[in-house]
Amino acid sequence: MNETVQAFHRRSLQDRDAFWREQARWVDWQTPFERVLDDSRPPFARWFVGGRTNLCHNAVDRWLPERADQLALAWISTEVDQERRYTRAELFDEVNAAAAMLREQGVQRGDRVLVYMPMIPEAVFMMLACARIGAIHSVVFGGFASVNLAQRIDDAAPRVVVSADAGSRAGRVTAYKPLLDRAIELARHKPAAVIVVDRKLAAYTPLAGRDLDYAALRARHEGARVPVQWLESSEPSYVLYTSGTTGKPKGVQRDVGGYAVALASSMRHIFDGRPGETFFCTSDIGWVVGHSYIVYGPLIGGQATLLYEGTPVRPDGAILWQLVERYRVNTLFSAPTAVRVLKKQAPELLHRHDLSSLRAVYLAGEPLDEPTARWISEGLGKPIIDNYWQTETGWPILSAQPGIQPLPDTGSFAAGPSQGERAPSGGSKPQAQRGGFSTAGPSQGERAPSGGSKPQAQRGGLRFGSPSWPVYGFDARIVSETTGQDLPPGEKGVVALVPPLPPGAMSTIWGDDERFVQTYFTSIRGRQVYSTFDWGRVDEDGYWFILGRTDDVINVAGHRLGTREIEESISSHAGVAECAVVGVADEVKGQAAVAFVVLKGGAPQDAAAAQALEGDIMRVVQEQLGAVARPARIRFVAALPKTRSGKVLRRAIVAVCEGRDPGDLTTIEDPQTLEQIKEAL
Ligand code: PRX
Repeated sequence: MNETVQAFHRRSLQDRDAFWREQARWVDWQTPFERVLDDSRPPFARWFVGGRTNLCHNAVDRWLPERADQLALAWISTEVDQERRYTRAELFDEVNAAAAMLREQGVQRGDRVLVYMPMIPEAVFMMLACARIGAIHSVVFGGFASVNLAQRIDDAAPRVVVSADAGSRAGRVTAYKPLLDRAIELARHKPAAVIVVDRKLAAYTPLAGRDLDYAALRARHEGARVPVQWLESSEPSYVLYTSGTTGKPKGVQRDVGGYAVALASSMRHIFDGRPGETFFCTSDIGWVVGHSYIVYGPLIGGQATLLYEGTPVRPDGAILWQLVERYRVNTLFSAPTAVRVLKKQAPELLHRHDLSSLRAVYLAGEPLDEPTARWISEGLGKPIIDNYWQTETGWPILSAQPGIQPLPDTGSFAAGPSQGERAPSGGSKPQAQRGGFSTAGPSQGERAPSGGSKPQAQRGGLRFGSPSWPVYGFDARIVSETTGQDLPPGEKGVVALVPPLPPGAMSTIWGDDERFVQTYFTSIRGRQVYSTFDWGRVDEDGYWFILGRTDDVINVAGHRLGTREIEESISSHAGVAECAVVGVADEVKGQAAVAFVVLKGGAPQDAAAAQALEGDIMRVVQEQLGAVARPARIRFVAALPKTRSGKVLRRAIVAVCEGRDPGDLTTIEDPQTLEQIKEAL
C-alpha cells in the first residue's frame, strides 16, 4: 500500500462505505452484508447490516485448511511452571468440546456465560466456545472479589459461570472458588451451573447440583463437533464491564461483525502482522486488551498467540525476552507498568536473549511517560508503539500504523528530534512525512533486524510521549469542554469522537441504551460527540498527546491542571522511579496538588534528605511547568497504591488525604501501600 497514515485515515471517513467494504474482506462472511452502515438512530451504529459471520469461525475454523498443524495457542505459566501448546486443530477440538459442555447445560444463542478465570487455556476455549454457539461471554477479571463479581452476575444474569479453583500471582495462590461462591450468595441472580477447572491449587467442595468439573465434562465431550452459529453482524458477542465515575460498572457491549473486521484489519494495519506469525500480549483476559489482543485479534489474523500466567520479573526480569526468543515472537504488546517494573531490574537482562524476530513493542492502557519509553526503546533497539484506546472502543484510537506506512528503517532513518529539542514547528512538514515514508516497506522475510545501531530518539519517526495519530475509522477531535468546538493544534481539550463510532467499538451499554447515550454523548456542551473523558492535545506536527482523565482533573486556585503533566515533570527528576499526583481539598486554593513519589534508590535517609529532595523536585516542576503546577506537598513512599492491572488508585489516595473512607478497595494490589500514604501524611 502506498498511502500515508493520514490519507488512509481521511479515506476511512470521507469514503466510509467503500473503505469498510474493503476492510470487511479480511473476514469470512457466511452471508454477505447488505449495507455497510446503518446510523439512522444516532449515536447508535450498526455495521455490516445483514451480514452473518462468527468470531470463532474466523479465529479457528477458517484457518484449518492452511494451518491445522501450526501453533495457535501456547500457554506458559511461571506461576505453576507449566507450558502447553495447541495447534489450530487442537484448539478446534478443545473449543468444540467446550461448546458441547455449554450446550449440554442448555446455553443457547444470546444467553450469557460469565467467565471468572485465571490465565489458563480453558478460559480461551470457553470464550471461543461462547462465540461459536452465539452465547455472550462476560469475562470478569480474576483479581476482582465477591462484591464486584456479584454486581456483574446480577447485571449479566449468566446461565452458566465458568471458573477455576484458584489463580496464582507472584507465587501467591488466590482461591477463586470461595470468592465465586460468596458472590453467587450475594447476587440476586443465581446461575444454573458452575463449571470449575480444578487446577489442584486450592481444595474446594463442589456444590451438589450446581458445580461441575471441567475435566470430567471435557472427557465426556471429547471429539464432539458443534456447528458454528452464524450471527447477524450486530448481535452481541460479549459484555465486558468497566468502571466509570459512578459506582455501578458499565457493561460494554460489543457486536460480532464490526469487531471481527476491526480486529482483523488492525492486525494488518496497526500491527503490520501476517498469518503464521506469533503475537504475545501480556495483558489479562479480564481486560479489553486481553479480549482483543490475546484472544480474538491474533487468532482471527491467523497468528499464534501466547497466553502468559506470570509477572514480568519471575523467575527473573528476562522472562518476557526469554519467551520472545523461544517462540520467535514478532509482536509484543504490554503496558507501561510492566516496562517500569523492568526498568528497576538490571539493564543487561534486555540483552540476554535473541530478539531478532521482534518487530516492535506496543504499549497501551495508561500514559507512557517519556523516560520509560526512552529506556525501553533504547534498551531494545526496537520501535515502541504507544497506542491509546479504551474498553469502550475495543481497539486503538491513536497509534502509529506501520502496516499502512512502514516506519522508516532504523538503519537509514535519521532520528527525528526528541520532544525537548523539537525544532520550531511553524511551516515545517509534519514529522510523519519524513524519512522514506512513501516507499513500500520490505516484506516479512526481508525485514532487516533492527538491533545493533545506536538509537538516539524514538525509532521510526515516532515521538516519545505520543501515541502518534488517529487510527482509521476514528473521527477523533480535540474539543473544548465548554463550547464543544474543535480546538486548534497546541490547545488542550477533551479527546472526543464524532459518531458513528467505527466498527469494533461498543454498540451500547448492556441492557441500558439510555445510559450509553447519557454517559458518553452528553458531556460535551452543544454537540453529540463521544467523550473519552481524557484530555488531549495535538502538536503542530500532528502528533497526539494524552494528558490524563478529565474526571481526575484538579483545579488549583482557578487553574485547571492535569495531574499527568505534573507527574511527567516529576518523573523527569533523575531520582524518581514513579509518582502519583492528586488534587486534595485546600481551604484557600480549592484544591492543592499533592505528590506521592517512589524513589529509585529507596526512601530518603532522613528528614533533611527528604526535604532537600522535595525542594529539588519542586524546582524541576516549577522550571518545566510553572509555579502554578508545583505540588503543595511531596511525600515519599515505597510504592503507590495500584489496582492489579497497574492503575494508580487516585481516588483512594485523595480520600485518605482528605481523611475520608477510601471506599471500594477490592481491586487494590497491595493494601499496605494505602497505609503508607496515611503514614506519609
Ligand atoms: O485514560 C486513558 C488510559 O486508559 C483509559 C482506558 O482504559 P481501559 O478502558 O482500561 O482501556 C485500556 C485499553 C488500552 C483511557 O481513557 N489510556 C489507555 N491507553 C493510553 C491511556 N492513556 C495514555 N496513553 C495511552 N496509550
